Amino acid sequence: MIKTEDIVKGYKIAESRWARFGPYYAMFPLDFAFEVVERYSKEGDFIIDPFAGRCSSIYAGGVLGRHSLGIEINPVGWLYGTVKLDPANKEEVTDRLLEIYSKQNYYKRAIERMPLFYRMCYSDEVLKFLLSARSHLNWQKNDVDATLMSILLVYLHGKLGEGLSNQMKMSKAMGMKYSVEWWKKHKLTKPPEINPIEFVMKKLNWRYKKGKPEVFDSRVIFGDSTIELEKIVHKAQKSGIKFSLLFTSPPYCSVTDYYADQWLRLWLLGGSEVPKSKQEKHKGRFVSKDDYCKLLDTVFGNCAVLMAEKSTIYVRTDKRKFTFNLTLEILKKYFSRHKIKIIERLFLKKTQTEMHGNKSTETGEIDIIMTK
Ligand SMILES: C[S@@+](CC[C@H](N)C(=O)[O-])C[C@H]1O[C@@H](n2cnc3c(N)ncnc32)[C@H](O)[C@@H]1O
Repeated sequence: MIKTEDIVKGYKIAESRWARFGPYYAMFPLDFAFEVVERYSKEGDFIIDPFAGRCSSIYAGGVLGRHSLGIEINPVGWLYGTVKLDPANKEEVTDRLLEIYSKQNYYKRAIERMPLFYRMCYSDEVLKFLLSARSHLNWQKNDVDATLMSILLVYLHGKLGEGLSNQMKMSKAMGMKYSVEWWKKHKLTKPPEINPIEFVMKKLNWRYKKGKPEVFDSRVIFGDSTIELEKIVHKAQKSGIKFSLLFTSPPYCSVTDYYADQWLRLWLLGGSEVPKSKQEKHKGRFVSKDDYCKLLDTVFGNCAVLMAEKSTIYVRTDKRKFTFNLTLEILKKYFSRHKIKIIERLFLKKTQTEMHGNKSTETGEIDIIMTK
């Protein structure tokens, strides 16, 4: 049986190499995800996360032998999650990489028409390769293409020398104008010359060095929890399955726009060439308090139907009053007979937003733990 320690410390086994797969804003620290699963569930139990992000909770559940089910609306988070739960074979991914690369010359002229941002961010060689990947990879339907695309997403931007791009943050993409001005100011107007095949092969070799992770019966649905959960409730009622751990972290009201943060990765997945606000439900900053309330109410209301009598509800949320009070009120409404424990994560070194440079003392995470 795999020990949590082997996964969170070092990279000696496949499960630890894939565990951190996918830079994503507000992700669970790895040790925290494993500790919660280990403490509040046992092998063979069913776990659910309706706001799965890059699937830290679901991965921990699967690696530790729990049936685990996630839902994620953002294609970037979903792709990281679905791939780390079941990556395709390395040989097939390598063949596909070579195939995509062989088509790159079709994009010689296309790159000339691209905004300055892209020309400063990527060398011509990299940009042609990315356009080829963007046109040909069927990442939603084909697992080999999904694996290759997710590797490209991970390294699409990051520190100079660590990713395919000019100097950029790894967790979120800055705006086009801001980036261009920043590169000019720091005399970084020339993107790094990178051979995309050599670069991606190196990353594939590292990731697959210990093989593929062994993950027990786990998956993540690409969709909106307010819709998908109703279908899951329907199926669970037929099969009689009950979940014993609800382990999640909803988006925080008015804080993060997961679509704006990931605009460049969304471009690679076929989205707009320029950053655009989505203007679609559950795909923005969650500014409307009414909509936010409806989201939590619908999701936790449906989860309540799925949970076993003696279940645990573990919700990490924002410390700020509105999000915290509302979340607590809704959880109390649906899990009225559970005991409640609140843990403020103020003094921990690595809260999920602090990891990304948020040092404000007014913000922070808070855990609501409900048990029976
Ligand atoms: C705080 S993050 C979760 C991070 C996650 N715990 C991790 O470790 O990566 C909240 C996630 O909820 C997702 N989300 C927001 N509304 C959703 C909805 N209606 N259905 C499914 N996912 C949703 C966001 O896209 C975001 O990835």
